[in-house]
Amino acid sequence: MEAVIFVGVQGSGKSTFYRERFFDTHVRINLDMLRTRQREQLLLTACLAGRQPFVIDNTNPLPSDRARYIGPARQIGFRVVAYFFETPLRDAIRRNNERAGKQKVPVPGIAGTFRKLQAPILEEGYDAIYKVTISPEGAFVVSETIDKP
Ligand SMILES: Nc1ncnc2c1ncn2[C@@H]1O[C@H](COP(=O)(O)OP(=O)(O)OP(=O)(O)O)[C@@H](O)[C@H]1O
Ligand SMILES: [Mg+2]
Repeated sequence: MEAVIFVGVQGSGKSTFYRERFFDTHVRINLDMLRTRQREQLLLTACLAGRQPFVIDNTNPLPSDRARYIGPARQIGFRVVAYFFETPLRDAIRRNNERAGKQKVPVPGIAGTFRKLQAPILEEGYDAIYKVTISPEGAFVVSETIDKP
């Protein structure tokens, strides 16, 4: 039973990483797809009740964004982990520019998320925090952060 919480600006590679690492094992909970917090809550509740591993694939920039998942998941006995997609703003904007159609988001939105983003810390209640970066070749590199990232 594992709850995975992604943290990272638009264009940092979260959904791509989900497809690569978690597609076969974890339900994806994504606010862009679900549209409303009410529908998100319904799916989250179903995962918790069913002891179904899941990934929260939102930008989740603030501790308060993450807290709504951490408390309920821990209470049920899930292992709770954060994946922090640390990326320079310009790299996120460049990757966003390469996206097509509705996938492409306005640059001020990315910059706004970048400005307010607070890196996850263990005190929020995680069992582990992983940092995800993208190598020049485009490979995801994952490392566990021992203390604060
Ligand atoms: N490892 C990678 N190497 C090269 N390009 C990548 C990599 N990961 C993602 N990309 C590209 O970067 C863009 C953004 O990736 P992705 O959609 O996964 O970001 P996201 O964090 O889910 O963004 P959002 O929060 O807006 O949903 C996409 O065009 C994707 O193809
Ligand atoms: Mg995404």
